[in-house]
Amino acid sequence: MKAESRDSVRKSQSMRSRSGVVAAALQTVAFFGLVLMAIHAFAATENDAFERCARLGRGINLGNAMEMPRGRPLWEPQPEHLDLIKAAGFNSIRIPIRWSEYAATDAPFAIDPAWFTGVDTLVNAALDRKLAVVINVHHFNELMADPVGQHQRFLAIWNGIAEHYREFGPDLFFELLNEPHGKLRPQLWNELLSESLAVVRRSNPNRAVIVGTAPWGGVRGLKDLVMPEGDRNLILTVHYYEPYHFTHQGASWANKGADAWLGTTWDGTRNEQRAIRADFDQVAAWAKEHRRPVYLGEFGAYNKADMESRARWTDFVAREAEKRGMSWAYWEACSGYGAYDPKAGAWREPLLRALMPSATGR
Ligand code: BGC
Repeated sequence: MKAESRDSVRKSQSMRSRSGVVAAALQTVAFFGLVLMAIHAFAATENDAFERCARLGRGINLGNAMEMPRGRPLWEPQPEHLDLIKAAGFNSIRIPIRWSEYAATDAPFAIDPAWFTGVDTLVNAALDRKLAVVINVHHFNELMADPVGQHQRFLAIWNGIAEHYREFGPDLFFELLNEPHGKLRPQLWNELLSESLAVVRRSNPNRAVIVGTAPWGGVRGLKDLVMPEGDRNLILTVHYYEPYHFTHQGASWANKGADAWLGTTWDGTRNEQRAIRADFDQVAAWAKEHRRPVYLGEFGAYNKADMESRARWTDFVAREAEKRGMSWAYWEACSGYGAYDPKAGAWREPLLRALMPSATGR
């Protein structure tokens, strides 16, 4: 071999080894870069869930409208309602929706496009007014009665909703299921929530998703709730209606004997306060242990209770939630728990003051 070509071989060998060193160095840099990005992404998503939850702030449920049986809403939310809600200082609304009534009963369980159009109108009107919006799956009674038989349908409904809203901004939140109960026992719910979350994540990798407890979204279900550990963009939701005999007095749908509870007051005695604080402490402890933000998605007292007690209770519950950094949504706007009186065209002042003390100058 000529000297010249030996040199060029050596040169190319040394270039190879040098480029090997450079490649290794680049690989190391890339590796640590990826680790840093992963750490950052993890931290960012975790903070995002807290930030997203804070965005919900003080909210109100548009209950007894879109979750009622087909054609039988108790009232129909209009843009004017959203103006009133915004002007009162609320940050968000929660729209309970009975999707199951508008989804085919045979595979692929398509959702009626006309129903989507109606939901879109309301969602867009709220987002235009800078109100954050929670949409859920509400009153899916068939699922509670037959979780195995309705399993694929539930996943398909979520696939349909998630695909439909995939381009919407982060102020739209998904809540997987209102108050799992009946045969949808906690263990089964944990499995289903994880599966439905995976379906949502295919099209909405970054959306904040809200998940509640079984049975009935209550505090007592927390001990059984398992949220997928790796998904840090989740918000815990609980509902609060204690003492039940007070908040559901005269509520025929809640209990046949609910009329016997009429006249129950909530006076805010030390014991009454202590009981509520203990429940909220339990929620806060779970949230701290699992590093999840909390959204109190429903609380309210029915209009058969006296207004003074209702306002006192509402104020106390809202403040206890806020003290623990929780966002909330009052149950509800214009119906039996209504903070707003649609006939009089006015807020029920004691309830509004209880919900929004700073906005009403208290
Ligand atoms: C139900 C409503 C009920 C409310 C209070 C909600 O989760 O969907 O129908 O009025 O709880 O009981």
